[in-house]
Amino acid sequence: MEWWQKAIIYQIYPRSFNDTTGNGIGDLQGIISKLDYIQSLNCDAIWLCPIYPSPQKDFGYDVSDYQGINPEYGTMDDFDQLIKMMHSRDMKLIMDFVPNHTSDQHPWFLEASKSKDNPYRDYYIWKDPKPGSSPPEPPNNWEGQFGGPAWSYHEATGQYYLHQFVREQPELNYENPQVMVEMKENMRFWFDHDVDGLRLDTAPLYKKDQSYQDDTIRENWDENAGKPAWKKWHFKPLIDVNGVHDIIAEFRSVADEYPKKMLMGEIYLEFERLMTYYGEHGDLFQFPTNMTLVNEPFDLEVIKPLIIEYYQWFSKEPYTAAWPNWQFSNHDRLRMASRIPHNLRLAFLMLFTLKGTPITYYGDEIGMLNGDIPSGQVKDPFATLSGDAGIIHNRDRCRTPMQWTDDDYAGFSTANPWLPISPKYQEQNVKLMESDSTSLLNYFRELTKLRQTTPALYLGEIAFVPVPADNINQLFIYSRTDDRSTYFILLNFGNSPLELDLQALLGLNNFKLILSTIEMPTFTKEFHLPAHQGIILK
Ligand code: GLC
Repeated sequence: MEWWQKAIIYQIYPRSFNDTTGNGIGDLQGIISKLDYIQSLNCDAIWLCPIYPSPQKDFGYDVSDYQGINPEYGTMDDFDQLIKMMHSRDMKLIMDFVPNHTSDQHPWFLEASKSKDNPYRDYYIWKDPKPGSSPPEPPNNWEGQFGGPAWSYHEATGQYYLHQFVREQPELNYENPQVMVEMKENMRFWFDHDVDGLRLDTAPLYKKDQSYQDDTIRENWDENAGKPAWKKWHFKPLIDVNGVHDIIAEFRSVADEYPKKMLMGEIYLEFERLMTYYGEHGDLFQFPTNMTLVNEPFDLEVIKPLIIEYYQWFSKEPYTAAWPNWQFSNHDRLRMASRIPHNLRLAFLMLFTLKGTPITYYGDEIGMLNGDIPSGQVKDPFATLSGDAGIIHNRDRCRTPMQWTDDDYAGFSTANPWLPISPKYQEQNVKLMESDSTSLLNYFRELTKLRQTTPALYLGEIAFVPVPADNINQLFIYSRTDDRSTYFILLNFGNSPLELDLQALLGLNNFKLILSTIEMPTFTKEFHLPAHQGIILK
């Protein structure tokens, strides 16, 4: 079993984790000083969001130097110390890596913008304005992910350049082989610094449709209203374009120059396409990210068929050797505790008992809620550009500082943090929750410990147990089995309790309660499973 199959991955947004310099911004020494804490969560790998020098227009996803450390976060010595300390604890580090675009302040783009014949011009994607347009119009109708045209006009040289995120994130041109040569060197730089894995940002976007024709629009026509209910761009020329796998194969070949390195790819695609990113011979990503639980409501009717379908892919060629993965939250989506307040413990029970590597986002273990960002203090470019600083697009809300204590600034910093502390920090903080044996935090630890020490749970097979028809949208049961034992996981997603005959359901005479979301002293074969609760039996 490879380390990335056994690991529990803890995702850190470095700006918001722990500030040791008193500038309101998290840093590398802050992470180093919390390694004990992360280990106490039984997480043995960290995925670290970008820490490279960056003008921070998209908070590190606009990289101006792929081989450096943002001075706000520390130095290369701090980084080497972090990795050394992690390895001495048998922990692994996965760095975020952003090959799709650079910052407009990256030396390549500064050069490229100087003139049309600059040797770096072709590192990026430049096109003439639409023929005959005056004033100039973009070459086609392609839209960016943050809304608006995917093209920005560059006055000085009279051409447009492509960007799907903010205009300060020009997209690289992988049709130019030199770009790949440079990016591979950047990857080697981090592998030579002993990094264990890279998370490749926006993986399906690296290849662009070479026709540069207009995109098409998909509409759902509303008969009653006499207008489209919604309109969606296909993004066909920009996402999952034929040829993108070849680019990823090149990146993977760099990882394979070293022993035991892994690549995770950020992918929001339906399973049929997602699976192709493992590669026909397992030669692309070890982890194309499975976003089912991030995207979908925590509603059994919705997710159960998706969970089952996902696993079915792993029983078919060419994916029988591929390994699943799961996550509920990340730095781009609303917090799981805000999305599923009633079923939080249940959700963790599922995350740590499903087959496949679990990824957990900093602060979720204490039930951190979405922050409130006063208008005027919004930092996320997605929110400002899409004109929606509210619920849907404001990613600041899931990026607020980690809540360590109930002190000022939640013990994150001695100075006013770059984003406001989330309102409930006085109840939801590590210090307080550590001292309460019944807290979510200690429950999380119990669960992760069980997973880490139970082969059936980290490597065993998964099977789905049929449930009575009248419970079908409320009760979810599956088993995890290795050659020594079988564990049953029973989850009640509903608002009402369930009376269960375990013998009839599971066909077993003897079972032991291993773990549950709440205290369950009266455990018998005729079992009462309260609303929103779950258990693990053996
Ligand atoms: C990915 C990152 C997101 C970033 C975007 C552009 O989706 O997760 O935070 O804004 O790429 O780099």
